[in-house]
Amino acid sequence: MSYTFPVTRNPNPKPKPDPNELVFGKQFTDHMFVMDYDEGQGWHDGRIIPYGDILISPASSVLHYAQMMFEGMKAYKSASGDVLLFRPEMNARRLNRTNERICMPQMDEELFVSAVKATVHEDKDWVPDAPFTSLYIRPFIIADDPALGVKSAHHFRFMIILCPSGPYYAANRGKLSTTRIFVEDEYIRAAHGGTGYAKVGGNYAGSLRASQKAYACDCNDVLWLDAHEHKYIEEVGSSNAFFVIGDEVITAPLAGTILPGITRDSVLTLLREWGVPATERKLSIDEVVAAAKEGALKEAFASGTAAVISPMGTLRYLGEEYVINNREVGALSQKIYDTITGIQTGKLPDTRGWTQRVD
Ligand SMILES: Cc1ncc(COP(=O)(O)O)c(C=O)c1O
Repeated sequence: MSYTFPVTRNPNPKPKPDPNELVFGKQFTDHMFVMDYDEGQGWHDGRIIPYGDILISPASSVLHYAQMMFEGMKAYKSASGDVLLFRPEMNARRLNRTNERICMPQMDEELFVSAVKATVHEDKDWVPDAPFTSLYIRPFIIADDPALGVKSAHHFRFMIILCPSGPYYAANRGKLSTTRIFVEDEYIRAAHGGTGYAKVGGNYAGSLRASQKAYACDCNDVLWLDAHEHKYIEEVGSSNAFFVIGDEVITAPLAGTILPGITRDSVLTLLREWGVPATERKLSIDEVVAAAKEGALKEAFASGTAAVISPMGTLRYLGEEYVINNREVGALSQKIYDTITGIQTGKLPDTRGWTQRVD
C-alpha cells in the first residue's frame, strides 16, 4: 500500500543554521508530521504542517503517566546530493515492539516509513552535509486522552519532528575522538520484566540522576550495570556498548533490559562478515577492569544512531579511572565508524540494502 499526505507549507521558513555550528537536537526544521489514532478508525489523517507548538489537554495521559514512545533515526546527504535513510524498516519494527509493551496501537511499517520519507522530503534542504552532521529524525507517539484514570488511552497522536544536528558528543567536533564514561554502581536503568527494551520516555527520565553524577566527574555518559547484581554491563547512555578484549568483541545480549540498537545490529553484521569474533554475552565490569589492568582491553566503543561509533577513552568505576588504548581512537572503532558512515552517506556501496533514498 502506498501512502501520501497533504502538506500545508510553512509561510515563514527559517534561515538555515551554520552547518559548522550545529549541536545535537536544538534547532528544528520548518515542518512536522502529525497523525491521529482513534479506536475503530485506526491511524488516520496523516498530514504535514508547519513546525510549531501543539495544543494538548492538561489532563492528557502522557503528561501524568508517561504513556508515550519515541524513535530516533537520521537522514544523510550523499556527495551527489541524494538524501538517504539507514534501515528505516528496523525503526518501524522497533516502534511496534515498543507500542506492544506500552499498550499503544500497532502501525503499518510502510505507513511509518512513508511518513518519515514524506516529512524529510519536505525539509530536504535542511539535511546538512558537513562532516559529523546529519538530519536527526524524531518520530514519537503520545497518549492524549484527557482522563486521569491510570489506564491505556483511546486516542493517540503520532508526530515526526526533524533537527539538523552536529556531533552527539561535543568531543567529536572535527574528528572522531574518545569519551570519558562513568560506570554507574548505584542507580539502575532497567530490570527484567521492565521496559528496558522499549523506547519509552520513562527509561530516560530515570537515567538523568546518573547522568548528573557522570557530568560531575567530567564524564560524557553513563555505563549501566544490571539491576540485579550491579555487575554485568548493559549499555551506555543512549547507545549500546562494545568491548574488545584480546581478539574478542563483546556486547551485552538482547535479554529484555537493553535497547536492541539498529547500529548494534549493523556492527555485529559487519564484524561477522569481516571474520572478527563478535560475541553477545554477559560481560562483568570485573572482567573489563581485569582486562584493563592486564593490557587485554584493546578498545571499547558505544554504538547508536546519535552517537554513531563513539570510542571510549576512559572508564571511571568506583572512583578509579581505567584508560583504554591510551585514550586514542582504536583501529577497529575507526574502521567500523568509517564503514557505517560510508554506507549511510553513499560513499561506500550498499551491498546489504541498508539505505533508502528519499525522493
Ligand atoms: C538506550 C539506548 N540504547 C541504545 C541505543 C542505540 O540504538 P540505535 O542504534 O538504534 O540508535 C539507543 C538509541 O536509540 C538508546 O536510546
